[in-house]
Amino acid sequence: MRVRFEDLDTEAMGILSGNDRGRYTVPTDGLYPYQWNWDSAFAAFGFSQFDLDRAWVEMETLFSGQWPNGMVPHILFHEPDDRYFPGPEVWGCNGPIPSSGISQPPVATTLIRGLWERDKEYGEGRLRRLFPRLLAWHRWFMTWRLDQGAVCVTHPWEAGRDNAPDWDAPLARIDPSGVGDYQRRDTNCVDPSMRPTDDDYDRYIWLVNLGRNNEWNEAILLNKNPFRMADPTLTFVLLRATRDLLVLGRALDQDASEIFDWIKILEAGAGTLWNDEIESYDSRDVHTGAWSGCISNASFLCWFAGIHDGRMLKHLRRVLDAVPYGIPSHDPDSDRFESRRYWRGPTWPIMNRLIGIGLEEAGLQDEAEKLRQITAKLIAGNGFTEYFDPHDGSPAGGSKFTWTAAVWLGWASPNARRE
Ligand code: DGY
Repeated sequence: MRVRFEDLDTEAMGILSGNDRGRYTVPTDGLYPYQWNWDSAFAAFGFSQFDLDRAWVEMETLFSGQWPNGMVPHILFHEPDDRYFPGPEVWGCNGPIPSSGISQPPVATTLIRGLWERDKEYGEGRLRRLFPRLLAWHRWFMTWRLDQGAVCVTHPWEAGRDNAPDWDAPLARIDPSGVGDYQRRDTNCVDPSMRPTDDDYDRYIWLVNLGRNNEWNEAILLNKNPFRMADPTLTFVLLRATRDLLVLGRALDQDASEIFDWIKILEAGAGTLWNDEIESYDSRDVHTGAWSGCISNASFLCWFAGIHDGRMLKHLRRVLDAVPYGIPSHDPDSDRFESRRYWRGPTWPIMNRLIGIGLEEAGLQDEAEKLRQITAKLIAGNGFTEYFDPHDGSPAGGSKFTWTAAVWLGWASPNARRE
């Protein structure tokens, strides 16, 4: 058995190397041929298990695409590749590297802290150079994305959970007529039944057109964009990242008072995501005040954010009892659950990893270990795929996936270092 795990470790390293484009890593060849923000942070986590220098390079490349206003885009289009739509011409952005015009959950801060912790002496110079960029990115979130202290997404892609049922109601309010003709490319690589629908895509592209037509001016879009959802993914991830930023700032002898204030604001914001009706953290529509009514895997990021909320434990136990291969991205007891359609049900190893960190830190060792073992079984039995069917563990989405390989190497593998 041990030999087999070592084979998987080798395979995971091979996937990272195969997706390595020199100074950045693609999530998977074909489906996602560019550098994605949070995928890239996980790539760095994977590389840090065997090549710390390459891990730092990954993050340095990501921040080389940072906009003057501090935003770090969710996609950097380093090399033209017509296998992906929408490409740089659709986004029409003017950053230092052709890019998208929105951001993504800032797990990079947390994973950069991990790189620095692994070898502080080696990492100090590199951290010192990245720190002002991290600070500027956090400041951008705090300036442009807050509602009552909770962090909002302005496009479903900004949450990373593209077609989560959380966004159904606000997307349904958008009339996408006039979006124009376009050709999806994702369904050339993955069975359409595992991807967002065409109706979803029309609205994704409509929102991109809106941003481009307003030159990605945040002040204008604040009023014009009909999609503004206070989101547990961004809120919990940014809160956690800000705690890590504070540690980094203090280690570098920086004035950390601004960061400390942000933590207080975000803690209050996280509280505003509690939906009494479903007794869970949920997404909230900023324009209408309506709840999404969704218990998702993002709801379970509360522990990762340092909020040790026992109230979520009953849901955690319930969903893990309901499906053998959790944590599903949407509540399996909901009628909107679809076990193989992207963020409407499948299990994502990276989310399990983040939730697992939170559970460990909250002292919920049994739950954390259970989650690690489920994730290990999923990957060992079904490969390094993008996501998995929580009912039978079967693989779904793209294959040879960078962040699944990284999660194996750094956590799920029995050979992973325990930190
Ligand atoms: C996609 O194209 O599916 C991505 O998730 C957008 O970030």
